[in-house]
Amino acid sequence: MKRPFVELVGTGRYVPEKILSNADLARMVDTSDEWIVERTGIRERRIAGPSETVAFMSKAAAEQVLADAGIGPEDLDAIILGTASPDRLLPSTACDLQALLGAKNAAAFDVSAACSGFLYGLSMAEGMVAAGMARHVLVVGAERLSTITDYTDRATCILFGDGAGATLVRPVTNGQRGILAGYLKTDGTLAQLLYRPGGGGCHPPDQKLLADKGYFIKMAGREVFKSAVRAMADACDRALQLAGMTGEQIDLLIPHQANIRIIEATAKHAEIPMDKVYVNIDRYGNTSAASIPIALDECVRSGRITAGMNVMLVAFGGGFTWASMIVRW
Ligand code: ACO
Repeated sequence: MKRPFVELVGTGRYVPEKILSNADLARMVDTSDEWIVERTGIRERRIAGPSETVAFMSKAAAEQVLADAGIGPEDLDAIILGTASPDRLLPSTACDLQALLGAKNAAAFDVSAACSGFLYGLSMAEGMVAAGMARHVLVVGAERLSTITDYTDRATCILFGDGAGATLVRPVTNGQRGILAGYLKTDGTLAQLLYRPGGGGCHPPDQKLLADKGYFIKMAGREVFKSAVRAMADACDRALQLAGMTGEQIDLLIPHQANIRIIEATAKHAEIPMDKVYVNIDRYGNTSAASIPIALDECVRSGRITAGMNVMLVAFGGGFTWASMIVRW
């Protein structure tokens, strides 16, 4: 087993107050509460208001992390923000967060790995701390997917929600807790299964883009589902292998919350019973890069995670990207 170089300290989350229920969606598109619950496990999701930007939600989550860790914003050496729905394309939303926090000594950048963004960010942070480049790295996953969701497309609008979560990466203090294993993977040949066609350099904003709704998420749901089940299984296998562990030694699995059927298939593959799997998809839907850190914060604050537990984090997302990590808390 790899010796841990870094540990996670402190957690935080922010979700908007506004709830969009399945019944609300059934008044907007041709769908029903029964269909959504049966096919996805989602009952409601949160939707950001005009002032609840990605940077705003990230700041709220980050302040809880700093309070938990007992450090101030000036103690941060770096801020890494995983998001697929940045407040704007230039500069990164992490720069806005750095300014809002007053983290005057921190470098700040976004990571673009869709729903795997938080785990990609944690891995970058681990590398920076292990290399001696930084001591305190704030890692955030935050999304305002409602701004890039087409609320006339029933295949996607039922899935997504908004929110933010965060944690802090620092050097190990006692060697007993920390990141035991981490794994990142990408298959860019699957990019067109889940993407935003326009807005970037290939399809700059123009009248046609607006008419075609090319700035919204497009998704081939059934194909994404199949690839996701395969990717999540691979991610579990590799993390367990790298840590020299079996599913039996995992005390809690926190999977990316995309679809309850994907979560159940992942748990079954890793031979982890569902009572050791954290699920909050019913309340928040798919919040992409924010889903794992929101769940992590709920688990820590509710006592579901206690010191010494082996926690496995697993995600997949557009790209295709997938990732996993085993953390001893
Ligand atoms: N309400 C009612 N019926 C619907 C809805 C809806 N909201 N959406 C689709 N249908 C219909 C379809 O039109 C289809 O009808 P047909 O049989 O007459 O053609 C039928 O339901 C079945 O459609 P499928 O797409 O096969 O349904 P499926 O069981 O695959 O569920 C879903 C669709 C929920 C999208 C599923 O495929 C899924 O979860 N895929 C993964 C999506 C995902 O995880 N995306 C996020 C990736 S992470 C990231 O990076 C953001």
